[in-house]
Amino acid sequence: MSTVKKTKGSEKKPVKAPKSAAVADLKTDKATTGDVPAQDIRIENNDQAPGVRRRDFIHIATVSFAGVGAVAVAMPLVSQMSASADVLALASIEVDVTAIQSGQSIKTSWRKQPVFIRNLTPAEVEDANKVDVGALRDPQSLADRTKPGKENWLITLGVCTHLGCVPLGAAAGEVKGEYGGYFCPCHGSHYDSAARIRKGPAPTNLVVPEFAFISDTVVKIG
Ligand code: FES
Repeated sequence: MSTVKKTKGSEKKPVKAPKSAAVADLKTDKATTGDVPAQDIRIENNDQAPGVRRRDFIHIATVSFAGVGAVAVAMPLVSQMSASADVLALASIEVDVTAIQSGQSIKTSWRKQPVFIRNLTPAEVEDANKVDVGALRDPQSLADRTKPGKENWLITLGVCTHLGCVPLGAAAGEVKGEYGGYFCPCHGSHYDSAARIRKGPAPTNLVVPEFAFISDTVVKIG
């Protein structure tokens, strides 16, 4: 009898398991995908491909950090890894510049940022090369910002380095500023024909993204 009583007395109610990291992660995921306004999610994915959701970003990040993990773990993630293919595809763009005549520019988009592709005239190239580079706020020659033999092709982000406005000067008829390049009307930054900052509050030149000519007329950005 005493044994029976002892057994009953020693029965323990099931102990509630502590929240695992996985559960916590799921709740975090739910909270960030379900409760946060859509614009916040887009900001988080600012340099991702269109349509990529925060959940995708989390999966991609997870795969990246788990890259040195066991093969057994990697296999179930194959389908998730394929979701990143879209992102990788838009990590670079190819642009045929055949139609851009000397003196013309186009605006395109890369990783959700505006990009200016400009075919400088011989006079604009000459003007850019006449500048005393050492006197510039952000000292760079035109050659530093273009490719050898293609100095007329100036490719920059269309994002003012002051506070991020899109400068004028790429489209036909737009004001090019006092130095014949780009002008940011937000606070008055003037860029020259090599898109170098010459006047106004912008601290640096317009950014030249990574790019390469993959043929005589096609440029790959990114
Ligand atoms: S954002 Fe261009 S000058 Fe301020």
